Amino acid sequence: MTSNRVFIAGAGGFGCSLAVLADRYGCQVTLWSKFQEEIDAIRRLGENKRLLPGVPIPPTVNLTTDLSEAAQVALVILAVPSVAVRDVAKAMSPSIRPGSLLVNVGKGLEPGTLKRLSQVIREELPNCRVAVLSGPSHAEEVARGVPTTVAVASEDRASAQRVQDILSCDTFRIYVNDDVVGTELGGALKNIIAVAAGICDGMELGDNAKAALMTRGIVEMSRLGVALGGRSETFGGLTGIGDLIVTCMSMHSRNRRAGILIGQGISPKVAVEKVGTVEGYVTTQSAYRLARQMQVEMPILEQLYAVLYEEKDVLLALRTLMGRPVRHESEDALLALEK
Ligand SMILES: NC(=O)c1ccc[n+]([C@@H]2O[C@H](COP(=O)([O-])OP(=O)(O)OC[C@H]3O[C@@H](n4cnc5c(N)ncnc54)[C@H](O)[C@@H]3O)[C@@H](O)[C@H]2O)c1
Repeated sequence: MTSNRVFIAGAGGFGCSLAVLADRYGCQVTLWSKFQEEIDAIRRLGENKRLLPGVPIPPTVNLTTDLSEAAQVALVILAVPSVAVRDVAKAMSPSIRPGSLLVNVGKGLEPGTLKRLSQVIREELPNCRVAVLSGPSHAEEVARGVPTTVAVASEDRASAQRVQDILSCDTFRIYVNDDVVGTELGGALKNIIAVAAGICDGMELGDNAKAALMTRGIVEMSRLGVALGGRSETFGGLTGIGDLIVTCMSMHSRNRRAGILIGQGISPKVAVEKVGTVEGYVTTQSAYRLARQMQVEMPILEQLYAVLYEEKDVLLALRTLMGRPVRHESEDALLALEK
């Protein structure tokens, strides 16, 4: 990792883990939070006890609530939930220099507009270079220096390569991917399937059901991703199947943990309140609307939407999925048969 100044907007789980990683490999790191109490608590306790407990934030990491400190750095990392991305980018705009490089690591879609987060950032910071980073990368493991691989994509390849140069190190391996749409949507949509996988676990449906959910889930993700301009092979990579596996299998995943509670009979709203940032909950609603707009068939998403937003019983949703008309596994083969 080259020695560089890095500004991280968002001092939650992932922001803190990237701060620890970048500091360890010689970057000069500034970690920003909008909330003075969050910065004060990190300063006082030496860690973000609420969002990344047990991971010391080194004293060499500069803590701030001043966004103008993003002006003089090599790389700005946006690590806030999708609902906050526009506000943070907007608040940054008066101080950030034209040509600055930003990488978004948040995974979701903007509620309401249904835009990808890089589109939102571009709208607010049109003179900046924007990249997106996604892949199987739980904060808890990134911070501990556990081997992790991710993908970075940008409309201009040089920007993606610059992010790769700045953030790569022997525990954090970054691949460049040219498919921005697919890279972003892989990260956003897998959270939906992770909530469903958690429900599956909460209902104690067993390994067969979960494997089926993940396999058919990636098919749905890819279908919507391709309809929106992504490439299907991206969904077979780190940001698609890679991130899906880690999110559906790990107790680190808040999306899965919320799903487990729902599968155990707790109401979706209460489950999300208990767990904290559950991007998959919000993204389910956005993706449901997108799928309708694009006329893409997404049965798992439809049933999850009904459970999360229409009070459908999880057992009934399961029965609906299992009771669908039988069909061919491969869409291409199906299309050929229909001709
Ligand atoms: N935690 C992970 O392992 C992980 C890994 C990869 C990507 N991500 C993605 O990174 C994003 C952040 O996730 P996280 O786990 O760090 O969340 P978190 O809940 O741990 O932290 C969120 C941070 O954003 C800040 N924030 C919340 N609302 C804000 C607002 N309105 N304005 C400004 N700041 C605000 C909070 O102060 C906090 O510092 C999510 O999109 C998530 O999907 C998380």
